[in-house]
Amino acid sequence: MTSSNNHIYTIFGASGDLTKRKLIPSIYALFVQNMLPENFAVMGASRSSYSDGSFRNVMKEALKEFKDIDNDELIDDFAGHLYYTPVSFDETATFEGLKHRLDAVAKSHGVGGNRIFYLSTPPSLYNTIPQMLAKAGMNNQNDGWKRLIIEKPFGFDLESALELKNVLLKDWNENQLFRIDHYLGKETVQNLLVTRFSNGFFEPLWNRNFIDHVEITSAESLGVETRGGYYDKSGALRDMVQNHLLQLTALAAMEPPSSLEPDAIRNEILKVFQSFRPFKEEEVAKNTIRGQYVASNVKQKAQKAYRDEKGVDSGSDTETYAALKFYIDNWRWGGVPFYIRTGKKLPTRVTEVVIHFKSTPHFLFTGNKNNLENSCNQLVIRIQPDEGILMKFGMKIPGSGFDVQNVNMDFHYSDLAHQRIPTAYERLIYDSMKGDKTLFARTEEVIQAWRFLQPVLNQWKTNENIPLHGYPAGTWGPEHADDLIAGENMTWRYPCKNLTDDGIYCEL
Ligand code: BG6
Repeated sequence: MTSSNNHIYTIFGASGDLTKRKLIPSIYALFVQNMLPENFAVMGASRSSYSDGSFRNVMKEALKEFKDIDNDELIDDFAGHLYYTPVSFDETATFEGLKHRLDAVAKSHGVGGNRIFYLSTPPSLYNTIPQMLAKAGMNNQNDGWKRLIIEKPFGFDLESALELKNVLLKDWNENQLFRIDHYLGKETVQNLLVTRFSNGFFEPLWNRNFIDHVEITSAESLGVETRGGYYDKSGALRDMVQNHLLQLTALAAMEPPSSLEPDAIRNEILKVFQSFRPFKEEEVAKNTIRGQYVASNVKQKAQKAYRDEKGVDSGSDTETYAALKFYIDNWRWGGVPFYIRTGKKLPTRVTEVVIHFKSTPHFLFTGNKNNLENSCNQLVIRIQPDEGILMKFGMKIPGSGFDVQNVNMDFHYSDLAHQRIPTAYERLIYDSMKGDKTLFARTEEVIQAWRFLQPVLNQWKTNENIPLHGYPAGTWGPEHADDLIAGENMTWRYPCKNLTDDGIYCEL
């Protein structure tokens, strides 16, 4: 990076978990790889009353947990760039104090006026902090760029998202806003673009003429862990579908961008969001499934019910599983159903995009042993873990007759990357320092995503005829979810039927 990238990175919510687990380790990893600008500093800000020294100590401890980048000397060197200022989020004086502190630190590090403000705080503060920063003049770009980074959720529904949009755009311009969707920072999510647009043989097939349906899964084996309080007000639809899964859908479905310019890519993503066929409220019951995990016993291990998790209401009807069927009304995808699902406490952690190709017009090999009449080729793009690509083919079983069986042709990303793969946060923080907005969600995308899901939110809230299915923790969610995928012998892809001991996926 050049000296024009010198800056101070301010993290609001610096005493929180994300700062320790992701943000500081990512900035440190960039530091170790010499990817930070020559002059930089990091300012932690939150309600806690750390001094610079105690903040440095806590962060040093946190960094030692990351074995691959742990190095005492470098950690000490890095810690010399860390500072801390306690803030009261609703007090103008605190923000003025913060501004002076930042100016002083900037002077001692030779940084100039560039600032990044990262909001790693509860979303309830997204309205307050940007306004307070602006009031203290910290949105003013006369002496250097000022950027604001916001973590999801961007709003709670369409109405609050529009409100947040107005509050933010009152004092900040779109170019200053960086909305983090950490899925976009994942190497293999970006690889979706490379797979699609650097291979001549996929593109001609990537449309309604050859693709029967598209399935996108993001399964987690963990439950809500320590985040019950947040999650119970959110649920799977808001927590995973509104952002990560719709972004994945857009990358799988978008038109080729004319270049790799951020706006060229983001324009194509937005077009997909704009083409989602709106849910009619009366069709929500038919095209969506929601579920919540209930207590179970898996491999002699008792699994808690969601309602017994810490911070969760004992009568909660928040969904921990969501599955949707919908269409993208455009030239490429007319009539092709998209199925997306996500859930907590499923058998394993796996995120994948599965392209199901149409079967042959006339299946010659009838009566074969494996009953593959309706089988079709599948392309599985694995986002995590064991990133890679799997193609399923029909092949002749050696011997007399024409018996067919499915075989796998696979590629593991780990075979290619002989180097450390950067984490999503590392990539996104680095891009925010460079000012590259390609992998950040734009205001209009966020609004469109809420607009698309609002009828589902409405119906799930008010329609008593839409059940909240219980599913035993450790299973693939409500059995009814299979009913969404219509068609003979069609179900979701179950990459792994049973809970694996290590949570590692079985087939790729
Ligand atoms: C977050 C959600 O955005 O993504 C969490 O709030 C979820 O509930 C997480 O667990 C999943 O991310 P990843 O990278 O582990 O797939």
